[in-house]
Amino acid sequence: MTHPTLICGAGIAGLWAALKLAPRPVVLLTGAPLGDGAASGWAQGGVSAALAADDSAELHARDTIAAGAGLVDREAALALSEGAAAEVAELAALGAPFEREGADWSLSREAAHSRPRVARVKGDGAGAAIMATLIKAVRAAAHIEIRDGWKAVALTGDSSACTGAIAQGPDGQIQSIEAGATLLAMGGAGGLFALTTTPAIAQGQAMAMAARLGAVIRDPEFVQFHPTALNAGLDPAPLCTEALRGEGAILVDQTGHRFMKAIHDDAELAPRDVVARAVHRQNASGKGAFLDCREAVGEAFPERFPAVFAACQRAGIDPRIEPIPVAPTAHYHMGGVATDIDGRTSVPGLFAIGECAATGLHGANRLASNSLAEGLVSAARFARRLAAPDEHHPSSPGLSGGPRLDGRQKGPDSRTPNIMVNPMAEVPRTSRGMTVDSQWVAPSLPPLALLRLRQAMSRHCGVERSEAGLSELAALIDAMRREHGEADALIAARFIVTGALKRRESRGGHFRSDCPQTLKEAHHSALRLNDLAAPE
Ligand code: SIN
Repeated sequence: MTHPTLICGAGIAGLWAALKLAPRPVVLLTGAPLGDGAASGWAQGGVSAALAADDSAELHARDTIAAGAGLVDREAALALSEGAAAEVAELAALGAPFEREGADWSLSREAAHSRPRVARVKGDGAGAAIMATLIKAVRAAAHIEIRDGWKAVALTGDSSACTGAIAQGPDGQIQSIEAGATLLAMGGAGGLFALTTTPAIAQGQAMAMAARLGAVIRDPEFVQFHPTALNAGLDPAPLCTEALRGEGAILVDQTGHRFMKAIHDDAELAPRDVVARAVHRQNASGKGAFLDCREAVGEAFPERFPAVFAACQRAGIDPRIEPIPVAPTAHYHMGGVATDIDGRTSVPGLFAIGECAATGLHGANRLASNSLAEGLVSAARFARRLAAPDEHHPSSPGLSGGPRLDGRQKGPDSRTPNIMVNPMAEVPRTSRGMTVDSQWVAPSLPPLALLRLRQAMSRHCGVERSEAGLSELAALIDAMRREHGEADALIAARFIVTGALKRRESRGGHFRSDCPQTLKEAHHSALRLNDLAAPE
């Protein structure tokens, strides 16, 4: 049978989209068991929205555009800022325990926001509290069929129409699921880096799967590195939320010297990429980087920041009496599957929202706490788009539309990209929820090879990049593709590296030590699978 909508991924974007589609039936593939494996649940800060009396959607959009270093699409920024307040209110009505001060919202101010704008939950567990609310609602929703522990491993159809996905169950069983609309809400790519604050399984799978079908990938080189993750050998590295610096915590070297004051007027609250580079250089030079919260938070730490406190305790650190060792880590992927603001990709019938999508909202540098807001707003817009009378799906021929792309585009049919060794394009389009053979699943990377990839990505495609390092990394990835096949992680990593090699400037999260200048004219990158060099 053909399902109306298949949702792949169960973070804030996937779950909100599933709820918003009611009463339209939805099949939801959760990836990991529902509640595990989604980066949304790890968010500490909250959801950005213009909720204060002295704030406005225009101001929120302005801050988003300023943070994005010349690459934010105004239409995308306004779509977020105009939609966020209503979604937060609806989420609160569903039971999400946002803090209130009487009738007003209790709002935090985070770096590069010109107003207090982050709707928070008591403590530092906003993501976990929101996810708990969503999971309860999804479990109770009659229109949602939850396939717990099932993950999408490939898409079916071709560049003219996506017809569904191949899914793998918790016991390794594989099925083809046909759908009128297939939504990717599968998170980012932090797991491609040795140091990451995201779940390690987030390895850019949506990018690889969509690109195999012929979709355009936008701005893959833009990865945001969070400046202050706990640097104590934990994988993934626990986040030490920016709210700590918002409260006055300072960055010091091992002698106690506060190093950010000499680097930027805003010191610890300078743009995220500036702080990340400074912390990286401190560590690389052997001087060390530590977040000193003793004066700013002190004894209140366990109550005010329980998640960070618990992580520090796991590492044997007491932040009430000693500075926390920190390092920059891969935190958020601004690039991804190119979409318009309603989630439409360049392939009819295929949609993407949340971190795996690139609408042009985040540009080269995401504004803090815009990601949960984006998950909510993009899910709502997707659901409205699907319900719109002018929307068509592959089962009803004539689907039009797709993202506006500012970068280079190839012709419409990229069904047989020249490096394709994965046989996914051969999956029959007529398959209907049938069990299929495991040969349709892309090869996975053996653990040691993945470790090598992650280390090389952090070394050569991290906070500081150069042509020499990126070329070495590209050669390593291509050698791994020859040895292990076209694993999703390798394809996704190759997109990031190819974008980083092609972008001969520094902008936002992408810093090239050999091209430190920012070009006057900002341009998006647009890549397809056949833009990646063949592994020979
Ligand atoms: C943080 O709490 O520092 C992270 C917030 C974000 O990345 O949006």
